[in-house]
Amino acid sequence: MSEQVNASWIASPDRPLRGELRVPGDKSVSHRAVMLGALAEGTSRVHGFLEGEDTRATARAFEAMGVRIDTPNASERIVHGVGLHGLRAPGIELDCGNAGTGMRLLSGLLAGQSFDSELIGDASLSRRPMRRVIDPLSMMGARIEAGPGGLPPLRIHGNNPLQGIEYKTPIASAQVKSAVLLAGLYARGETAVLEPHPTRDYTERMLAAFGWPIEFAPGRARLSGGHVLRAGEVEVPADFSSAAFFLVAASLVPGSELRLQAVGMNPRRTGLLAALRLMGADIREEPASGGRHGGGAGGEPVADLVVRHAPLHGIEVPEALVPDMIDEFPALFVAAACARGRTVVRGAAELRVKESDRIATMAAGLKALGVEIGETPDGAVIEGGRIGGGRVDSHGDHRIAMSFAVAAQLAGDEVIVDDVANVSTSFPGFVELASAIGMGLQAG
Ligand code: S3P
Repeated sequence: MSEQVNASWIASPDRPLRGELRVPGDKSVSHRAVMLGALAEGTSRVHGFLEGEDTRATARAFEAMGVRIDTPNASERIVHGVGLHGLRAPGIELDCGNAGTGMRLLSGLLAGQSFDSELIGDASLSRRPMRRVIDPLSMMGARIEAGPGGLPPLRIHGNNPLQGIEYKTPIASAQVKSAVLLAGLYARGETAVLEPHPTRDYTERMLAAFGWPIEFAPGRARLSGGHVLRAGEVEVPADFSSAAFFLVAASLVPGSELRLQAVGMNPRRTGLLAALRLMGADIREEPASGGRHGGGAGGEPVADLVVRHAPLHGIEVPEALVPDMIDEFPALFVAAACARGRTVVRGAAELRVKESDRIATMAAGLKALGVEIGETPDGAVIEGGRIGGGRVDSHGDHRIAMSFAVAAQLAGDEVIVDDVANVSTSFPGFVELASAIGMGLQAG
């Protein structure tokens, strides 16, 4: 990928967005399907797998630990499980690429192995905090060394007996919860996680679907070690976070109407729908169309989302929605910048430790396009109005890049979006799909 690191897009308004589309598979579900499939007894089939860089990195990590993974086609994986104790020492560093989910979940799972391992990542991942997983895993008996400041790389020592704990997560984080639960598979006794606000429960749902006894409800989960995972079929829904860019774009561009097929509607992911509706968006949920849907192991609710242009107005984003839309703030900032009036975001300090500091990166980019935006430590105040042309830097953050492609559809002049190569981590084919439904966007 190195030759593409400075890749750019040229984006500008084209025509109303119209048509039907299915965005790629859910990133969170795809990571977990490979992980649990690898540790299961038997062969699992994953349909609708996200063929993105992040999830491919996770698949490569398991291949390096002796798991055979077949690729009959881009959106399908056949994972030949080796059982809970069947992984072998990788002999190389495991490169998680850009993926925080990959690294944090793997750290929990690797803490329970009989061999040492080392997790590395790209420049962005190497700046992301890992203490949040190291602390609870150490309480369970894991031995993990990080770089200065608790940053990657992570060196995880094997052959440490783990003990179950009850852990109250200080921040709402599905990655932290999942790391602890995955370590709990290997621990003596019970492992429980209690959250300050419920987060996405894909790990819990998929463990249950793979036959592992687990009790869970919003905000808490409890399991004990020493059971068996049984292979299954996983239907990965279309990723709500990828659909989000089109929900915002079609809401903003006059004359637009889009149908987004079979989108994952896990309530812990759809906070943006509620926020956009508060802003005046016209988005309908209909029974899912277009072939295979969520279901099977990992069973997730899905729906078609039909979005029509509607004038948006600014809101105070309810803080209770923040964890349910944590990945959607770059898109929400664009909606706010094009809405009538002021939008206020609070309680979203986690945005500062995502693939980039998403508050600072969005503020710099929107300012470059003439938008009035003030940063706060845990959010922003955005004055809606006109967007101008200009040049913005996505800082290698996939969701920032796609959000500015959306902003450009409302801009008075051409927008150049720099450093867009990482869009392939979550949304391969974004430019082609976006152009096909009417967005003015091309590789620059
Ligand atoms: C994810 C959880 C979220 C989210 C990330 C994917 C997951 O992170 O931002 O994109 O798959 O568990 P946190 O759990 O750190 O909030």
